[in-house]
Formats: sequence, C-alpha cells, structure tokens
Amino acid sequence: MRTLIQGGTVVSAAGSAAADVLIEDERVVALAAPGAHGWATDADRVLDATGRYVLPGAVDMHTHMELPVSGTVSSDDFETGTRAALVGGTTTIVDYAGQDRGGGLLEGVERWQARAEGRTCADHGFHLMVTDVRPDTLDELPALVDAGVTSIKLFTAYPGTNYSDDGRILQAMRRAADLGLMVMMHAENGIAIDVLRAEAIARGDTDPIHHLLTRPASLEAEAVHRMVVLAEVAGCDLTIVHISSADALQAAVAGRDRGLPVYTETCPQYLWLAIEDVPEGFDAARYVCSPPLRWRREGHQERLWAGIATRRVDAVATDHCPFTWEQKEAGRGDFTRIPNGVGAVEHRLDLVHQGVVDGRITAERWVEVCCTDPARLAGLHPRKGVLAPGSDADVVVYDPTATQRLSAATHHMNIDFSVFEGLEVTGRVETVLLRGRVVVEAGAHVGRPGDGRFLPRGPSTMT
Ligand code: URP
Ligand code: ZN
Ligand code: ZN
Repeated sequence: MRTLIQGGTVVSAAGSAAADVLIEDERVVALAAPGAHGWATDADRVLDATGRYVLPGAVDMHTHMELPVSGTVSSDDFETGTRAALVGGTTTIVDYAGQDRGGGLLEGVERWQARAEGRTCADHGFHLMVTDVRPDTLDELPALVDAGVTSIKLFTAYPGTNYSDDGRILQAMRRAADLGLMVMMHAENGIAIDVLRAEAIARGDTDPIHHLLTRPASLEAEAVHRMVVLAEVAGCDLTIVHISSADALQAAVAGRDRGLPVYTETCPQYLWLAIEDVPEGFDAARYVCSPPLRWRREGHQERLWAGIATRRVDAVATDHCPFTWEQKEAGRGDFTRIPNGVGAVEHRLDLVHQGVVDGRITAERWVEVCCTDPARLAGLHPRKGVLAPGSDADVVVYDPTATQRLSAATHHMNIDFSVFEGLEVTGRVETVLLRGRVVVEAGAHVGRPGDGRFLPRGPSTMT
C-alpha cells in the first residue's frame, strides 16, 4: 500500500518546507520537494494537504489511563483515552504502570499490559512507578529493561503511598545509572506538604483551593534541587516531570547548566491555567492536580512558555489523569480526598500550537516539544517523533487556521467537564495516520480499539 501526502508544509524540529511524504505500508519511505518526483502515478492513495502542516504523530510521554488512585480509577480507560489522544494528533502515549506496595515491578507492568492489550487506539509504551524500593525490587530492573520499560518514576510526594525517602531514591538511582534507565521524578516535598495539609484541615480550611495553597512552588523547587543532587551522586539521567512553576524549572535548569543530564517536562495545564482562574467553593475541585496550578501574578506561566522557547523545557506532556465530577465529589468537605489529576490528552497539540499563533514559540519548537523530544526522551526516536525514511508512518495533517472552542460537549475524553471549557484556539487536527493507516478523518476517529501496539522502548537518546 503506497500512500502519498502531497501539497503540505512538513514541519519538523529541524525546519519547515513544502514537501510531499511517501509512505509504504507502515513506514515513511521518502520525502521530496513537490513536483520533484512522479510518486502520484503509482500511489494507491493520495491525501491532499494543501494549506496544511504535515507533522509526525505526537508523543505524549505522561499519561495515566485507568489508574487506581484514592479508592477510584481515572476515568479514561485505554480505549477512550487513546481514542481522544488520536483525535488530538497524539499517536503514541507512554503510560505509567504501577507497582503495588509489597508487589514486584514486572507484575505491575503485566497488569498494565493486560489492561491495554487489544484495547488501545494509539501505540503505547510504559514507564513504571516504583513505589516500594526494596533490594528484591531493584533486582528486577534488568528484566524491566528487557521488557522494553526503560524508565522508572520515583516520588518525593505522597507519603504513605508513592513516596520514597532520599536513601531509597539514591539506591534506585544508582541501579538506574548502571542500567541506563531514565529516572522520572515527581518532585514536591511531600513530608512538608503533609504538615501544611494537616494544619489546613485542622483550621477548617477544607475547600479544594487549600489543595493548591498547601503545595507551594518553593517546596517543588526544593525537591527538584535535592533530586538533581541525588542524580548527580548516582550518575543517572533524570527527567523532572510535570514542572508547574518557574522556581522548579530554574532548579532543574541549574543542574543542566552544571552539565548534568537533567531534562524537563511541563504540561498544558501549567502553561494555560492559574490559581486566578480557579472558581470559589467546591467547583475548584476540577482543577485539583499535583503539583498544583500556580499564580499568574507571579509569572509562572510566562516563564514556562519562555522555557519552551529557549530550550529549557524539553517536552510538553499532559499528565492526563482525569476524573469525573462524581469522582471529584469524594473530596467535598475534605480537599485531601479529592482524586488528583486533570485531563488534557486530546488538546495538547492545539494548546501548544496556540503558543505558535500567539508568537511565543516557533512551529518547529511546537513539533520538537510535542513530538520529537518526547520520543527521544522515551527511547522511541527515530521510530517515533520524526518523519524520515524508515520511521513509522504516524502523521498528522494539521490545519493551522481553523478555529475551535474546547468544551466537554465536544471532546472525546471520558470526563463530564473540561478545565479548558470555552477556550478558543486556532489550529485543528484534520487527518491522522497510525503506521500508514488513516485513523482520524475530518477530525473523526475512523480506527478501532486494538489498532494500537505495545512499544518496547530503548534507552533515551536525549543526551
Ligand atoms: O495530579 C496528578 N498529577 N495526578 C497524577 C499522578 C501524578 O502524580 O503524576
Ligand atoms: Zn506525578
Ligand atoms: Zn503523572
């Protein structure tokens, strides 16, 4: 099957040019200047991309589909979540499998494999959240690498569930360094935050806004700094995930400026939303995520956008961890019981593209932080994240001039509200190919659950 995408502007991290893309079966075979080839004559299918951007399928390196948390499960499963991802131009997700306390690492991956198997609409790989660092669990790390899971997430937050102390983190980091594993870090000082949370509840400050106010940016930055130092001692690669504040970004960049392999990820909610946007009363529960939103008046959003422009931020992922309103209701009267997370897997490309429209970043940088560098960080490049001969033919045909209003009434995510409700953005995904097959046509999903494949990953190629 030969597919030709012609007439578009191919946008890549390296530059943009009018170019046609030739696909054979599941792979890109060639790119050429329009008119410089005779591919149309023997193509089985020709897609017209005139006036459109043509870019690699986007890679969301941070999702939580059907994640068990706080006695419930995040509301997108692998089918609904990856369908929404595809409609938004994301052809690959890297989801976080989890270790049970007392359980093993491979067990966790197998559990997640079973959930995803035959159900995903997009390709998928896994990180593993190591929540119980023991000598025997660390001994499983080589087998994890063999299974294609080449990154582990550790937490300085959530004492009692996911938290590891500094000694355990250092032990895990050392083993990760030996094996070339990437360490993904949730960096907030959970021990100090728990003191602030308990004090708030004792004062009667039980509304959701107190979730945001008891997780200050200083305690995110402190944990980032500490983790950078531990990674330096261990000699491992480190990605600070879901950076929400200018302070935390600065702490990570300080490590990088010292020559350390420290990488940075932020999310659309931290670029777009602020504490000033959060409504009063329990309605604020829909914005509860960790780390929390930050004050616009303190300039965090501006500095994160500037970080993307100046290459201090390497990747924009979603940390997609949605809950319905009914699930959020569990925390009425006690903000500590609100399940943490927001949903954005469908809107990441559009929300970052709006930064291009607004003149904050270039189109090339948009592709780099949404597609190419997440693929590099996740050890999926050049199979994913780039349109080059030999890469998977995951392609997005994007209309940069169409406007759309984001809304729960029209989104595909399994959430009955949207934290981006009413936001108008310019740019829209039109067509998506997954390994050469059209799976989104005129913005509608035309593929099937089970189209997605498990992606065994190699080591990160960011360094
Ligand atoms: O609030 C969030 N981010 N929930 C998802 C779990 C995590 O810490 O990434
Ligand atoms: Zn986290
Ligand atoms: Zn997460």
